[in-house]
Formats: sequence, structure tokens, C-alpha cells
Amino acid sequence: MINLEQVTKSYAKNGAEVYALREVTLEILPGEFLAVRGPSGSGKTTLLLTVAGLLRPTAGKVRHGERDLYALSRGQRVEWRAAEIGFVFQMFHLVPYLSVLDNVLLAGPIPAPRETAVRMLEELGLSGRLKHRPAELSAGECQRTALARALVRSPKLILADEPTGNLDPDNAETVMRRLKQFQADGGTVIVVTHSDDHDRYADRVVRLEAGQLVDNGDGTTGKTGG
Ligand SMILES: Nc1ncnc2c1ncn2[C@@H]1O[C@H](COP(=O)(O)OP(=O)(O)O)[C@@H](O)[C@H]1O
Ligand SMILES: [Mg+2]
Repeated sequence: MINLEQVTKSYAKNGAEVYALREVTLEILPGEFLAVRGPSGSGKTTLLLTVAGLLRPTAGKVRHGERDLYALSRGQRVEWRAAEIGFVFQMFHLVPYLSVLDNVLLAGPIPAPRETAVRMLEELGLSGRLKHRPAELSAGECQRTALARALVRSPKLILADEPTGNLDPDNAETVMRRLKQFQADGGTVIVVTHSDDHDRYADRVVRLEAGQLVDNGDGTTGKTGG
């Protein structure tokens, strides 16, 4: 179970506070496929980074099971993340001077098993692209590489930031089906998006607006009042 309890993230901008997240309280069940929908600027990326242990909230708690994520030391958090989290970024974030295969192999603190990496890439239709650099790939190939990188260490949770936002429909479907397969194999998935593209893959859709959870997908409001 993942628990966000009154998570707030604010930034100081020109003397004023900008709230990226405001008192977001949310539970995600193991094995759930959750879609978080919201317009641009509503806090979706901030939410994912916070859940991933990459961004400390200004207030509130993020728990993964018994683990209070931001009570861990930085080193413990890095280790935990490498073991449990796969992250798929909207703009892929591949290393430009590494091959497709090396991008997948070298993503974590310890290289992933080579056979696993090759198999992941083959499954995603990239067997002919292992030695290509990202600049030599289409957007769909880049995102499939990024997905292989997220999957290669068998994480428990995949966080995907608008993973199909830059893809044609065929590639988008490949990516979403692979995430569904990851769920079928026992994983938990959180996907954020500004559109309804992912609703049909999700078990639950929640809505963010201006940093607030306005619908937590179970019929009760996500707003905490005040
Ligand atoms: N590092 C930052 N510094 C200041 N403001 C930020 C920062 N990151 C995000 N924000 C602001 O927080 C809000 C939510 O951003 P973000 O989580 O990226 O939204 P989304 O992913 O839904 O487009 C936006 O208003 C954005 O400008
Ligand atoms: Mg974003």
C-alpha cells in the first residue's frame, strides 16, 4: 500500500508561495493501476516525483508500506528506489551518448543482467536497435527503450509521466499494453496524463486541479477542506 498523507509541495517564487501540491491524501493499493488526470500545471509531475522519493514534500508524509519515505536517509532512499521503482519520463530522459542497450543496462547503481535487458528490448520490438543511440531513434522507439529501462530490474511500482504524450497511437498502445502486462505480473502502476487516453487501462482515475485532488475515484471527494 502507498499512502500519501496531506502532501503539500510549495515553491517560493518572487516572494510568493506557489503550491504545486496542496494537502493531497491518497491511497494506492498493491497491484492497482491508477491514472492521475489533470491539466498542465496541476501538479502531476510533482506528485510522481514525490511518490518516487525524488522530491521531498514541504509537508505531509509519503509511505510505502511501513516505510516513511522521507524519514529514510538519502542513501537508503536511493537504494530503495533502485530496488522498487521504475520511472518513465515524458521526454524519455535517455542518455544521449549511450546505446539503447546501455541505456537499459546502466540505469541503476549496479548494471542490470544483460540477458534481461536484451529480452525486454526484444519484447518491445527493439531487437534491431540495440546499438543505436537515442538520436537515431523515433519517439516511439525512445519511449519503448525508456520503458525497458523502467522494467529491467523488476520493480514493484512503475511511475509513468505522460508516457504516451509524444507518441503515435500504435506506440502508445504498445506502451500501455506493456504496463498492463506489468500489472498482470503483480506490479503497481501510476500513470499521469492530461487527457482521458489512459482511462480504459486504469482501475481508477483520480483528478488533480491546481495541486488539489478533486476526485479520488472512489466516489468520495479527495479534498480535505480548509
Ligand atoms: N521547481 C519548481 N519551481 C517552481 N515552481 C515549480 C517547480 N516545479 C513545478 N512548479 C510549479 O508547480 C506547478 C505544478 O507543476 P507540475 O507538477 O510540473 O504540473 P504538471 O505536471 O501537472 O504539468 C506548476 O505551477 C509549476 O509551475
Ligand atoms: Mg508534468
